[in-house]
Amino acid sequence: MADAFEPTNILVTGGCGFVGSNFVRWVAKNHPETHLTVIDKLTYAGDPKNIGDLPKSQVELVVGDICEADLLDRVVAGHDAIVHFAAESHNGNSILDPDPFVRTNVIGTYRLLQAARKYDVRYHHVSTDEVYGDLDFDEPRRFEPDDPYRPSSPYSSTKASSDLLVRAWARTYGVRATISNCSNNYGPYQHVEKFIPRQITNILCGLRPKLYGTGENVRDWIHVEDHSRAVWDILVRGRIGQTYLVGANGERANIDVMRAILRLMGQPEDGFDWVEDRPGHDRRYAIDPSKLESELGWKPDHTNFIEGLRQTIAWYEKNESWWRPAKAATEERYARQGR
Ligand code: NAD
Ligand code: TYD
Repeated sequence: MADAFEPTNILVTGGCGFVGSNFVRWVAKNHPETHLTVIDKLTYAGDPKNIGDLPKSQVELVVGDICEADLLDRVVAGHDAIVHFAAESHNGNSILDPDPFVRTNVIGTYRLLQAARKYDVRYHHVSTDEVYGDLDFDEPRRFEPDDPYRPSSPYSSTKASSDLLVRAWARTYGVRATISNCSNNYGPYQHVEKFIPRQITNILCGLRPKLYGTGENVRDWIHVEDHSRAVWDILVRGRIGQTYLVGANGERANIDVMRAILRLMGQPEDGFDWVEDRPGHDRRYAIDPSKLESELGWKPDHTNFIEGLRQTIAWYEKNESWWRPAKAATEERYARQGR
């Protein structure tokens, strides 16, 4: 196992989004000696309230765009690690308008890598299993770190591009980089455009949940806190130049997740609408996390998906003021696509 790296001053990009803010809260709580600077553009998906309750002495927010090289020049120096979450993250949006995806996910990553190189800062790159494309429903294998890249959507192709930049910068310029590719996250503070929060908040608003296509598509669900802990483990103990896959053995068909949400919220299990499928919709994602488990001793804490779903529903029930402002515009965008 590699010697542990002890970061004292981490720059977190996208720390006001869903996963980034969870990581910031997790580190602030579990490693109170670590200072965190968050750089976030505060797009529609970023909300400073997500980290607003943390002590200002420990967590500083810089509002700005990772594509701005001058800003990175001012901000990166003095940090001993960058953890890069910032991205345009929603597949559906990437089909409507790929432009910000190419800009933030590809150019933004390039700018950060250049800064990491210039200031010799340890760099961890947060990515998705979607770079590997999809699997057949009955295929016995799961994704492994050295699988070929076969992205299907504008989102996953820009994430794949960013991963390839990281690999090249590590090999050619010696940037001390690691990459993690994680499966679908769920938990509190996830934007209402994503599958699970969309259905929960639809029910809370008296709207019918929406299931794409046949509902057979499989996602491999992991609680966001387990993802945050994996990113920390890789940052401090991961081998430089390596890719780690993060997943919690959570494969479920969308229709089963939909029925579970309806059941937990006291609705009839058929109380949803079938809607037109998303173009290019990946069939199945499944992660083999054995490298992360055997090398770094990581294991998921949240192994009961239904219990995690119950807690997530309770969070959305309690925090309507957090999600309500984004709900109408999100549903209008879906309605324009017939979904
Ligand atoms: P999110 O959309 O909730 O948050 C993205 C954050 O990045 C927002 O705070 C946004 O304001 C910020 N941002 C966007 N463009 C920016 C820019 N140009 N400069 C600075 N900040 C910018 O996304 P998320 O779901 O939290 O995903 C975070 C990362 O984790 C992404 O890299 C994503 O690919 C990866 N990931 C997410 C999941 C998941 O299920 N959510 C799974 C695997 C990997
Ligand atoms: P999503 O949260 O958009 O993540 P991704 O497409 O990146 O995996 O969707 C998760 C799954 O749920 C995906 O198979 C598409 C499906 N889906 C629906 O069936 N209905 C919906 O309203 C949404 C948003 C997604």
